[in-house]
Amino acid sequence: MSPGKRRPSRPGNTRPARKKEGPRKPPAVDPARRVAFDTLQAIRTRDAYANLVLPELLRERGITGRDAALATELTYGSARLRGLLDEVIAACADRALSSMDGDVLDALRLGVYQLMRTRVPAHAAVAATVDLVRATAGSAVSGFANAVLRRAATDDEQGWVERLAPPYETDPIGHLAIRTAHPAWIVRAFAEALGDTGTELAQALEADNTRPEVHLVTRPDALNAAELAALTGGEVMPYSPYGVRLDAGSGDLADSEPIRQGLAAVQDEGSQLCARALAEVPLDGKPDRRWLDLCAGPGGKARLLGALAASTGAHLDAVDTAEHRAALVREAVDGLPVTVHTADGRASGLSPGYDRVLVDAPCTGLGALRRRPEARWRRSPSDVADLTRLQGELLAEALRLTRSGGVVCYVVCTFHLAETEGLVGEAVRTSGASRLDARPFFPGVPDLGGGPDVQLWPHRHGTDAMYCALLRKP
Ligand SMILES: C[S@@+](CC[C@H](N)C(=O)[O-])C[C@H]1O[C@@H](n2cnc3c(N)ncnc32)[C@H](O)[C@@H]1O
Repeated sequence: MSPGKRRPSRPGNTRPARKKEGPRKPPAVDPARRVAFDTLQAIRTRDAYANLVLPELLRERGITGRDAALATELTYGSARLRGLLDEVIAACADRALSSMDGDVLDALRLGVYQLMRTRVPAHAAVAATVDLVRATAGSAVSGFANAVLRRAATDDEQGWVERLAPPYETDPIGHLAIRTAHPAWIVRAFAEALGDTGTELAQALEADNTRPEVHLVTRPDALNAAELAALTGGEVMPYSPYGVRLDAGSGDLADSEPIRQGLAAVQDEGSQLCARALAEVPLDGKPDRRWLDLCAGPGGKARLLGALAASTGAHLDAVDTAEHRAALVREAVDGLPVTVHTADGRASGLSPGYDRVLVDAPCTGLGALRRRPEARWRRSPSDVADLTRLQGELLAEALRLTRSGGVVCYVVCTFHLAETEGLVGEAVRTSGASRLDARPFFPGVPDLGGGPDVQLWPHRHGTDAMYCALLRKP
């Protein structure tokens, strides 16, 4: 049994007796569960993002301290484990999930999450969830919710996984999909990229269910990592010379002094390493003059590249197709030798001849699932086909805009082979570009595999699962 979980002693008799007479007042729902419910509802009905909605609601309702911590755990946990929670609910209900009211289903997800993963006693988890159902969906369904939860409370998480998942020995993908709460197609994509269906696959999937540390990046022209660590109480990062890491629970960083002054920003170490790799590749002796970031919004890598370009006397053009994203890039690169363009990177109108080009292409984001609890249930295999078309076109245009002997760095925050090796292999075949061994440009980073491209992993490197390929134009 994992820490924090308890087998409920007696699932029955979960509520105190109530008087029957008179219309019932809707029960008071505690603020933490209510805010978790409202966030799950926003995710389901408005395609909202938990990490944007929840902090906003907590602020609006003045929820802090232990209540805020409980709301965060319930929201993120229930959104992330949705697949497993739904399997349990389906096994405990006398009707199909698809015929259930969405509000009832969200409340049940919160309830089953509390039963499986928290120290909340089973009777309290059931009672609080039934109150939530009564307050949000009405009394008529509260008996149904009570029955489902009482059945769910008859076993713990491990027991439910044993009952519901196919055996690991005959179907490792299906088993891990249930056990680690990932859609099976994503588990398969992990297995293909890792070349493993054993221990490492399980580790990679578990890492997705762990809250990441917060990484900061300095503006290297203004501050070094040791100075930033001293200012923020963080620790200098193991691989990026510009990075500092803070605890996963670090509070509201927007208020921290170096960030307000524009001397630092939040950026995963993997992103820092990829931007740096592009800046480090030796060229053919000609001076660096023109750099390009073809998919720049919101400007994380453009900020770092702009500062590195400044130190070599180069100028960076930064392109994004979305005006609001381009506006964020303008803010991020304030004071640096960077010009921001709102344009489609496939037809930007910029003239060829760039020394270094970054294509940080739109992708499925499978490499950052740990940051976005609901994302794994939103993506579908058809997204991959749509995105690879766009990625291929952007990479082809990047190569066209690069001068002979110049370098293109193709980066995506995913490990799906169609978006990574498959796409780059095809671009190399059709363009005649040569693929560089990217690993020497990630100095000190262990476990980079057989190359030539680099795939970073949360479970190996503590970074997002970023992929980086370096191509030289002939
Ligand atoms: C992965 S994000 C880039 C992240 C950015 N490099 C950073 O480090 O902050 C991809 C960006 O590509 C932009 N984009 C999507 N289609 C594009 C296109 N056809 N041309 C240029 N940018 C595009 C999106 O608006 C998004 O901002």
